[in-house]
Order: sequence, then structure tokens, then C-alpha cells
Amino acid sequence: MKKKPKISIRGNLAPYSPIRKLSPYAEEAKSRGTTVFHLNIGQPDFKVPETIQEEIRKHGDIDFLPYAGSQGSKELIDSWQKYYKDINVEVSCDEIIITYGASEALIFAMATVCDPQEELIVFEPFYANYNGFANLVSAKIKSIPLDIAHGYHLPPKDEIIKKITNKTKAICIINPNNPTGTVFNENELLSIIEIAHKYNLFIIADETYYGICFDGVKMKSILQVTDNSTRERIIVVDSVSKRLNVCGARVGAIVSPNKEVISAVMRFAQERLAVATIEQEIVASELKDSLPYVKNITADYQKRRDVLIKTLEQELDILIHKPEGAFYIMLKLPFLGAEKFAKWLLEKYSFNKQTVMVAPGSGFYNTPSLGDDEIRLAYVLKPKELKNAAIILARAIKEYQESVIDK
Ligand SMILES: Cc1ncc(COP(=O)(O)O)c(C=O)c1O
Repeated sequence: MKKKPKISIRGNLAPYSPIRKLSPYAEEAKSRGTTVFHLNIGQPDFKVPETIQEEIRKHGDIDFLPYAGSQGSKELIDSWQKYYKDINVEVSCDEIIITYGASEALIFAMATVCDPQEELIVFEPFYANYNGFANLVSAKIKSIPLDIAHGYHLPPKDEIIKKITNKTKAICIINPNNPTGTVFNENELLSIIEIAHKYNLFIIADETYYGICFDGVKMKSILQVTDNSTRERIIVVDSVSKRLNVCGARVGAIVSPNKEVISAVMRFAQERLAVATIEQEIVASELKDSLPYVKNITADYQKRRDVLIKTLEQELDILIHKPEGAFYIMLKLPFLGAEKFAKWLLEKYSFNKQTVMVAPGSGFYNTPSLGDDEIRLAYVLKPKELKNAAIILARAIKEYQESVIDK
């Protein structure tokens, strides 16, 4: 009998994204005529900025669609540099490489700093796909839990230092954080820099949600608080997906003052040839002057956050931690089995032919025991829809608790 070829350990270990895993159940619910409110995915419903729409319209007739350069199109790199200038970060164009979203930037960053089995320190809960990215490059995530009682801010320095081993290569920080919405302040960034300097580590700073901060909280890019002695440790991961509401354009960037890092990333970039030509062209001019647009959507997100939290607090008679930025909350459930509950919402539950899709919490952790009584909610719908979705979710939580748990 012929032997079957085996796929790699890496292939076997690749996790499903908790954000997308239940999508087939959502599709089935929709085919039954149920409206599904998507609170599972960070894909906002805002209109694409007008400048980008105009750029898209310009691309009516295309005779020739060449590869872009591997570093990215010059116009987009210039725009990114100008964007950084506007947020008081001085970077040169040769310190920027355009990537397929922050996702590819993270894979490149991890592949650049880690050999197989080397370690990355990540604060949990964290953006779920870090688990998959680390697996893809055979790196290991060493997680440090953040405490909701401290607003998910960083623990004391010695707790971070305790996790460092001779295999640790980098500390990762997502700022503002997905899924907690925490905005790490200047002192926290400085303490990460100090630790990285002392223990000779890189810092991978994911600033995908830069500037989406509420209640007057001002944030700083890690590149603003670093000095010449530590700049070379920093690798910033960035994206226009959320800030410009163009998730589908798949445009991001990796920014580092470290020439060796940039050289390695450039070689990875050459191997995958280039990022899509037209998508780079259509976002370039908006990105250049994008701070007012981000300010506008941030004001909307703050309203959405308040509607979601107020409704859930009223309906469930609980208190919810108010995030300082991004557009997510982690909601604690009064029972374990968040994934089963999320599936039940799509398969079995409906109120007036409506239900809600949520992301089960455990995928946002590396520690297996954590997150089973949490769900992540993205407040990416209009306030009226969000309120309705929150009411439906709260009813479902109560019904599930009574029918499944108390039996
Ligand atoms: C923290 C964080 N990093 C990276 C990404 C990936 O973003 P992109 O669409 O730019 O690949 C996301 C997407 O949700 C995210 O939340």
C-alpha cells in the first residue's frame, strides 16, 4: 500500500483564526434568513475616504499592470514618511518597506528576528493571529497575562524580565491593543525599551491602531520615545487597513531604523516580488494627509464604544472595563465554553430573526486555560445597529446561561 505523504508539523499546528473560524455557521444562518450582526471582526462599516474612491475611479482602463518595486511604490513610501513626519516621527524612506498589511509585516518581523524555537514575549490577550504568525516561522510565544484590574496595562518590570530566557529575541507590544483597547503610555514604552536594551532584545511594536484613542488620551509611537542608543532595536509594524478603512486593500508597512533588519526584510520582500500595484496607488494620497480622517472616525468609535458598553451594562447588570483606544472589548461571560456559545448563537439562537457573531476569547491567549469565559466584540457597526446587536447578545447570554448551564 502506498504511504500517504505527511504535511509538516507547522501545518498541523497552524491554528484557525477565532475571528473567522465560525464563518460557515454565519453563512448558514444567513441562508436561513437570519440577519447576523458581525461583532466578530475588526472590519468597520465606515465609507472609504473620498480621495481613495476618486483614485479607484481613475483606474477605469488598464492596458498594463506591472509589478511594483519590492520595497513598495515610491509615492506610497513618500506618503508614509510624510504621515510619520506629521506624528513627529523622523524616518527616512529607506527605513520603510511596504507589505501586504500589518499581517505580512508581522510575519517578516518575526522571521527576521527569530530562528526556529526562539522566543517572542507577547502580552496577553493579544491579536489572535500572532499565534499563527509565530507558528509559521517556528518561533515560540511566551505570554505575559495583563490584568483587567489594572486596565490591562503592563505589569511591573520584574514580571516581564522573569519571562526572558537565552532564547528570547523580542518583546512585542500592540499599541493601542487589540483586543483590550489599552493604550500603553510613554512610561510603559520606556520601560519596554529599557528592558530590551538591558537584555539585548528587539521590540516589535504593532501600531496598526495608532491614533484611535478616546477621552483625550494621547498616545506616542515607540519611535517618538526612543533615542539614538535604542533606535536600532525597534521594528514598527503599521497598516492602513483600520485607519483608512481599507481592510481589503491589504497595504501595510514595516519601519525600522535598523539597517540589518531592513536588509533582511527587503530580501523577504523580493522573494514575494511586490505588493499589489493598484492598491498602493489608491491609498498613497489619502495616507499622506490622513490625520483629520483618523480624528473623525475616532470620535465615531468613541460614541460606538459608549453605546455598546452602556447597553451591555444595562442589559446584563454588570460593569465593563472601558477601553482607551482601538475598537474592541473583551466581554466576560457568566459561564465557560465561549466557543460553544458563539457557535450556538449562529446555529440555534435568533431573536426576531436576528443574531450576533462574536469571536471566542481563548484564541486571543497563549495560555490554554485563559479566555474560555470571554468573547471579543468589535464595535464596528453604526450606533443604532450596535445597540440592537448588544440587546440581542445580552438576551442570548441570559438564555444560554439558563438553558444550558442551569440544567
Ligand atoms: C493588532 C493587529 N495587528 C495586525 C493586524 C492585521 O492587519 P492587516 O489588515 O493590516 O493585515 C490586525 C488586524 O485586525 C490587528 O488587529
